Order: sequence, then C-alpha cells, then structure tokens
Amino acid sequence: MDLKQYIAIVEDFPKEGISFKDITPLMDNGSAFKYAVDQIVEFAKDVGAEIIVGPEARGFIVGCPVAYALGIGFAPVRKPGKLPREVVSVEYDLEYGTNTLTMHKDAISPGQKALIIDDLLATGGTVDATIKLVEKLGGEVVGCAFIIELTELKGREKIRNYPVKTLIQY
Ligand code: PRP
Repeated sequence: MDLKQYIAIVEDFPKEGISFKDITPLMDNGSAFKYAVDQIVEFAKDVGAEIIVGPEARGFIVGCPVAYALGIGFAPVRKPGKLPREVVSVEYDLEYGTNTLTMHKDAISPGQKALIIDDLLATGGTVDATIKLVEKLGGEVVGCAFIIELTELKGREKIRNYPVKTLIQY
C-alpha cells in the first residue's frame, strides 16, 4: 500500500517555512491505519519488543495500537507536570531553547526491551531524549519506529546505534 497518499502536506504550518506532514487522513482511513500499524507490529516482533514507549501526543496514537496488537504494555513519555507520580527527566536542545520530557520511574523494569514509537522522525531530538529516559530506567532500547521520516533533518544519525524502521520518507 502506498501510504504517502494518506499524508496531507500543509505548507507554512505551524509557522512560515514549515511544510507540515499531517497524518490525520491516514488515521481516518481504517485500512491505511491498520496497514501502517501492522508494519510496525512486524518490526516490534523482529526486535523482540517487550514494552512500547511513545512520546506525546502523536506517539500515543501510533504506539498504543502496536502495544495492544502484541498484548504488551505502553509507557507514555510526557512533558513536565503531566505524570502524577515520581518521574525521571531529560532535557534536550531545540533550535531556540530547550525542552524536557519525563517518564514515570517505574514505567520500565531493568533489562526490559523497549521499542520507541512516534509518528515522525525529524531532527531526532525527541527520540534521542526518549532513549535516554529508557536507559536511565535500566531498559534496553531494541529499536525506534516511525510512520514518517524527514530525511533532510538527519534524525537517523542521532539513533544510528539502534535498529530504525520508517514507513514513509520525504
Ligand atoms: C513532533 C512529532 C515528534 C517530534 C519529532 O511532535 O510528533 O514527536 O515532533 O521531531 P524531532 O525529531 O525534531 O524531535 P511535537 O513536538 O509537535 O509534539 P506533539 O506530538 O505533542 O504535537
């Protein structure tokens, strides 16, 4: 299935000069969404994932159905102040300023094999911070999977030590 036809490209969103890749038409189409999730489920089986880790907000949309299909857990990665119990945090640089991501301290058990799933790989800052969170908790990152990869932004270089699966490249 050619998944690219289900991605809407929105120029100058959310800021001028940004060509936004909108996955909502893909999510809107049951067979396209199922096909995309099934591809990632196969990758998750190949790498032996025991838990799925997904950054908010779109990482939840893609990661949860994969976890459900495999009958394994899902651990959310959230912005500060959203998770109610004790967390670990990682700060990372943005083009201007910094961002912080958090996970519950008991979200991953030591040695657990985690697959990180998000909708999109751009600069790789989000996934790199997520890897650090999982590793702080003693988990083993067995791979990273995305629906879309923006190849020009070279996010893949940040995660070159891990198996990576992307379904659509721009
Ligand atoms: C987007 C996307 C990824 C991240 C990728 O999330 O869903 O999580 O950016 O970019 P990077 O590889 O340069 O880090 P966004 O920050 O827009 O958050 P949202 O999903 O909560 O809208």
